[in-house]
Amino acid sequence: MNHDIKDINLASGGKKRIEWASNDMPVLAQVKERFEKEKPLKGMKMSACLHVTAETANLARTLKAGGADIVLCASNPLSTQDDVAAALVKDYGIPVFAIKGEDNKTYYKHIISALDHKPTVTMDDGADLVSAIHKERKELIPQILGSMEETTTGVIRLRAMEKDGSLKIPVIAVNDADTKHLFDNRYGTGQSTIDGIIRATDSLLAGKVFVVAGYGWCGKGLAMRAKGMGANVVITEINPIKSLEAAMDGFMVMPMSEAVKIGDLFCTLTGNIHVIRKEHFEGMKNGAMVCNSGHFNVEIDIGALETISSKINKSVRNFVDQYVLKNGKSVYLLGEGRLINLAAAEGHPACVMDMSFATQALATEHVIKNKGKLEPKVYDVPKEIDQWVASLKLKSMGISIDTLTKEQEKYLASWEEGT
Ligand code: ADE
Repeated sequence: MNHDIKDINLASGGKKRIEWASNDMPVLAQVKERFEKEKPLKGMKMSACLHVTAETANLARTLKAGGADIVLCASNPLSTQDDVAAALVKDYGIPVFAIKGEDNKTYYKHIISALDHKPTVTMDDGADLVSAIHKERKELIPQILGSMEETTTGVIRLRAMEKDGSLKIPVIAVNDADTKHLFDNRYGTGQSTIDGIIRATDSLLAGKVFVVAGYGWCGKGLAMRAKGMGANVVITEINPIKSLEAAMDGFMVMPMSEAVKIGDLFCTLTGNIHVIRKEHFEGMKNGAMVCNSGHFNVEIDIGALETISSKINKSVRNFVDQYVLKNGKSVYLLGEGRLINLAAAEGHPACVMDMSFATQALATEHVIKNKGKLEPKVYDVPKEIDQWVASLKLKSMGISIDTLTKEQEKYLASWEEGT
């Protein structure tokens, strides 16, 4: 089997972690059970570009159980769990092209290796795979039934492609499903980002000024958790409504130029470029720590940081580089500006990825069932899938809820009754 991973001998540790994660993915397990019987993905060749984690391994196993012939490549150079990649190859017969810490050239080479599989369905986290298909593997376009997109950044890129007419395949915006972004982006990012920061730095958050750039679902999740750990949380935002929300959620809101004067820790989750840049680094306190939890490593202007530094001490701790600025102060960059939750920790916990990945698997089935009917557009996940995933997740948590009475149903469907 063709593959490119760090070390096949890591497989036994990876298999244990995949099994451990599967214990907390009951919804995906139900999908897998049905897929095993019905084989709805039979005959499909799939290329998936995702963070290669224990949770992703369970998604790949589910898709394979459904009959797909699947290969995997990384969606970020620093997010691969090498032991999981080894177990996927050795124990589950799934080819993987991903090595933690690979350089950009290898990262893109791995994407092309995944496309050499000649997929009929693709899955993406950040839209690098779809972008490579449109730029370098155009001949695959006619045979691709559709692609699933996992993350906000990817959906933004794909909508931009749709808008300028360059999108040539149907895409399902899995990120936009309620069972995805309301939970994965908020509670998943909230917890895993704090986890990554603490594993990288061993810092105490209580009493620190923690600056969160961006108040989307990811920023909200992180701000909430940082507050829970006792940090004084500052939000920077460009959207007036989100800024207002942050203020009324009880956070201090100010421009980055002000926040840099008081911040101890900074984390970007905006999806935008150069949110922390030269003038910001220059205004920071000595010892400030800066990281990113957005999809791409563009949010922190690392090039500018380099130009204003007189010395860079790499790896003063794992995932921590010290930049000694020409003004004499030090700034610590965590995880090379790549998503800290996957670089220094293990990404979101399995419990929350359960919903995201059950939705991914069902969206894949939806694309196949609708072969020939979907246009080259960005589609939402059908509402029934969202509802089904939410209901099963509740059930797996032992939570039952009320249902509408006939009288209530009638009331909600009518307009005559008033005061
Ligand atoms: N994105 C964030 N956390 C993840 C995880 N654990 N697995 C795959 N993708 C992720």
